[in-house]
Amino acid sequence: MLRRAGVVILFALLGGCSKKVHPYFQEPYPAKLSAWKLFAGQPAGLNPNVGVVPYDLNTPLFSDYATKYRFVWMPPGTSAVYNATEAFEFPVGTIFSKTFAYPENGHQRLLETRLLVRGKTAWTTLPYVWNDAQTEAVLQVAADPTVVHWTHPSGEKYTIDYVIPNVNQCKECHEKSKATVPIGPKARNLNRDFQYAGGRANQLAYWTRIGYLQGAPSPGQAPRAAVWDDPGTGTLEARAKTYMDVNCGHCHNPQGTANTSGLYLTASETGLMRLGVCKVPVSAGQGSGDLLFDIVDGKPEESILLRRMDSIVPKIMMPELGRTVIHREGVDLIREWIRSRRSLRGECKATSGSL
Ligand code: HEC
Ligand code: HEC
Repeated sequence: MLRRAGVVILFALLGGCSKKVHPYFQEPYPAKLSAWKLFAGQPAGLNPNVGVVPYDLNTPLFSDYATKYRFVWMPPGTSAVYNATEAFEFPVGTIFSKTFAYPENGHQRLLETRLLVRGKTAWTTLPYVWNDAQTEAVLQVAADPTVVHWTHPSGEKYTIDYVIPNVNQCKECHEKSKATVPIGPKARNLNRDFQYAGGRANQLAYWTRIGYLQGAPSPGQAPRAAVWDDPGTGTLEARAKTYMDVNCGHCHNPQGTANTSGLYLTASETGLMRLGVCKVPVSAGQGSGDLLFDIVDGKPEESILLRRMDSIVPKIMMPELGRTVIHREGVDLIREWIRSRRSLRGECKATSGSL
């Protein structure tokens, strides 16, 4: 009798499993996004399955004005460990997904879903590309660009060759000391409210409540990044620095892929020279044009940093990956910030490179 009950329970568990998220910890990873069972119902609806939690960031990475949907899942009974400044420490089996979409012809078109999966020893990056019918996304390590049409809030119409990064390019941004890592899930960028199906809540408090996060202080005690385009959330300087933290800081830090530039654009950086003020670039040439310094206080038009953001020319443009158009509003923010700065040292001197 007991034995039969056991069999029935096992059967029920197995049956239930098919409706749950299916993690893969190692190769071979499934060719189809649907195999992970992150979403329930119609695939393009992105309705999160049990335990799949949507989240937003105070300030996101700019990606050609695409709409992005972010979700996290952790194996039942596991949780991330809080860190006040770095990305949290996530358990083996964690799955992050980020889906890129554009409104097109009156409905939403999903282009790609990127997964970042914590395997037994390291994080893996997996780019899935949606089919035209929007019924499935397929793993493609090097997808072709795809034509996308959209309208900027100003009314201007864009047609772009949307570029899906290949799997090797993921690590140019997601690399820290040569290891692949998550970028967004940091206390300062998650510390905001989210409208969950069950009501509005602060994300740090919610993750703690459902057991996804350990060791977090109350949201009021945790750091909080400004929202780059909302002056109510921070000064011009705070918003400019947050913008650079999220859009540049993952490469421009001592452990990132732009470490040799000596230009460090993270939220915690306070050294003026390392932030680019009166800094002579490591390599002159095309990226600098005929300008001498990354930032000249009060003079955006003389600042290489702005020139490189305000470009789509390969070898000049920054970030060098992940966009094909200029982020006009982002450029405006950084221009305004540089203009507002009053140099304490006066003009930059051509010899000040080693300050
Ligand atoms: C241009 C730099 C860049 C490239 C290239 C890039 N990412 Fe990211 N990615 C980011 C940044 C910055 C964030 C966090 C900010 C955000 O989500 O807006 C992020 C967030 C993510 C997230 C959400 C979890 C997290 O780390 O915040 C996933 C999943 C992800 N990326 C996967 C990928 C995959 C897979 C690739 C390669 C196909 C890739 N990314 C290529 C910069 C990049
Ligand atoms: C995908 C990684 C990556 C991202 C993201 C990125 N950069 Fe860079 N950046 C580099 C690399 C690599 C170099 C060194 C080679 C060069 O100068 O082109 C560099 C160099 C620079 C330089 C010259 C610095 C010097 O002193 O030599 C500036 C200025 C710059 N980046 C600005 C930015 C800004 C502003 C952002 C964000 C809006 C940004 N970058 C985002 C990789 C990146």
